[in-house]
Amino acid sequence: IWLTRHGQSDYNQHGRIGGDPELSPAGEEYAKHLAEFVRKNAPRDQEVAVWTSTLRRTIQTATKITRSPRTWRALDEIDAGVCDGMTYDQVRIEMPDVWAARSADKFRYRYPRGESYEDVIQRLDPVIIQLERQRSPTLVIAHQAVLRAIYAYLMDRPPSECPSISVPLHTVIQLTPTAYGCEEKRFALPPHVEDQGAGG
Ligand code: F6P
Repeated sequence: IWLTRHGQSDYNQHGRIGGDPELSPAGEEYAKHLAEFVRKNAPRDQEVAVWTSTLRRTIQTATKITRSPRTWRALDEIDAGVCDGMTYDQVRIEMPDVWAARSADKFRYRYPRGESYEDVIQRLDPVIIQLERQRSPTLVIAHQAVLRAIYAYLMDRPPSECPSISVPLHTVIQLTPTAYGCEEKRFALPPHVEDQGAGG
């Protein structure tokens, strides 16, 4: 199983959350490197299944690998509700109550008209069931919060730890199922970009 966030988006560049932005030039570059990584590392006799969310930045990241990925709404990023499109600084200054409540309990905190990590975990159920049934290599191109939840499940980490798990941009997390869980390897692919929103 390969897990990766989409390539850097316009929003990532400016530290804005949510939305449906396109890839930045660096994000496009990552899409190429990711395709090369998959070509080099996929087992010869097996087709790689490519799953994305319904958001443009994940579909664009997949295009160099396949024109028709399997898109799942369940893989869409955590819905930041009224904060969608804002930067973390804007939320802190303009909505101090939201900022304080989320900082106090990031796992359970539900954005007004949006979601919490708990909500995300619930809607990921069908994806995880299908992922566990997969017999061929599967590349999941999704988003920070969603991948934290999938990773925590596969690595048997307590769900409450999800919000602080590190899932950087331009990194492939390779999880190989073994008798006792999963073996993990991480591959940082070029280009290196600053992660504005790697909130812990
Ligand atoms: O900053 C990128 C992003 O994917 C946002 O769209 C999303 O709101 C955020 O990460 C989730 O991370 P956190 O829960 O740490 O705010």
